[in-house]
Amino acid sequence: MPKLAYIKTFGCQMNEHDSSKMRLCLRGLGFGEAASMEDADLVILNTCTIREKASHKAISEMGRARVLKLARPGTVVGVAGCVAQEMGDQILERFCDIDFVFGPDQIWRLPEILDEVSAGLRPVHVDLIDDPSAYRFLDNVPPVTSHQSRVTAFVTAIKGCSCACSYCIVPSVRGREVSRAADDIVGECQRLADIGTKEVVLLGQNVCAYGRGAGTTLASLIARIAKETRIERIRFTSPHPRDVTDELVGEFRSNPKLMPHIHLPVQAGSNDTLRRMRRGYTRERYLQVVRALRDARPGMSITTDLIVGFCGESECEFELTMDLVREVAFDSAFAFMYSPRPGTEAAKNMPDDVPLRVKQRRLDRLLTLQREQGRSRNEAKVGSAGEALATGVDRMGRGLITGRLACNRIIHFAGQEGLIGTIVPVVITGANDNSLSGEIAG
Ligand code: 5AD
Ligand code: SF4
Repeated sequence: MPKLAYIKTFGCQMNEHDSSKMRLCLRGLGFGEAASMEDADLVILNTCTIREKASHKAISEMGRARVLKLARPGTVVGVAGCVAQEMGDQILERFCDIDFVFGPDQIWRLPEILDEVSAGLRPVHVDLIDDPSAYRFLDNVPPVTSHQSRVTAFVTAIKGCSCACSYCIVPSVRGREVSRAADDIVGECQRLADIGTKEVVLLGQNVCAYGRGAGTTLASLIARIAKETRIERIRFTSPHPRDVTDELVGEFRSNPKLMPHIHLPVQAGSNDTLRRMRRGYTRERYLQVVRALRDARPGMSITTDLIVGFCGESECEFELTMDLVREVAFDSAFAFMYSPRPGTEAAKNMPDDVPLRVKQRRLDRLLTLQREQGRSRNEAKVGSAGEALATGVDRMGRGLITGRLACNRIIHFAGQEGLIGTIVPVVITGANDNSLSGEIAG
């Protein structure tokens, strides 16, 4: 009987992709995949610490290690990801049932870490690697996820973030930017295309910084993937508005394989708030980028992240965020209440002075506005035609196929499972808050 492993993933696509790399590594070591944590010989919690709530969730999961071990003595439990990076050996001090800890730059060490655990040690590996020649991207392998994720694959372009947004813990848990060699990325995209992948999502905490200092750019990487591989659809996430260049806008204009969607976090609509956040752009500059993108690509879908209740945010500043949301008419948005993160400039030097009930009220107002706008943008699509990349069967068990339109919206339509992995012409027939319904065209 092979040993079984279970990886529980929290947080962003970078963490999801890291979990795939861990899965592949564990498969190489002879592990099978457990259906649940309770059935596993090895459990890895791949954690996120972006907001206080995420970090609390990770910590409460660590507390469950005791229960798992009581029910199934011998289970080995490790903590990976951004909380592992942030807390390091404090995790072992606080949780005597956690056996090992490793950060996002140490995934390649997993075999050695498990050997150390077998030898009775409690290893902690949390060094960040900023040297491009020493960093191991571990991507040059086929993905080990479901069929569904083989249609669309994540490909790391750049790791880390060298921005200094005052609220954000990412630079301290993911280290400085290190770009991956363009030849490796293009080669991986081609290998993925060879095994049936149609769409790649280029990943990086600050993906627009790709190639900085190495004489290349995200736009030229995208152009190479479009030209040199059989990948049909290219996306990237997440860009920083400050780093959206004319060259990148030009790529949206001229490259039909680059899908007409960008997730462009604005965070706030007031220049005073943006300055305290150290975002490096103004509201006017953001709006200019939005206009340039929409001019370059008719039908461009723009989604965003917003923070309410950042340090010192006045009612008037918040209204400017509401106003910006109305002006841009985002296709969808994630909105969060600010929470201070350890070690960040805001946590050290700026009082978290917006009361919780005010943050909550602002969040509710923002979400209500965005829901209305998102719905009307979805409704405006009804009657139009599009192309959906069929990614799998509908999870609700309605016998429908789930696909993604070029604008990244999810669409459900009746069809044969054999369509999965192909691009299907569809007509949009209905709109919901977060997805569309459609029919196969013709
Ligand atoms: N508090 C609240 N939201 C935050 N984000 C990042 N840091 C914080 C914080 N300290 C949000 C930003 C970012 C998204 C991933 O999480 O909106 O774009
Ligand atoms: Fe969470 Fe940020 Fe780490 Fe992603 S990079 S897992 S969002 S803390």
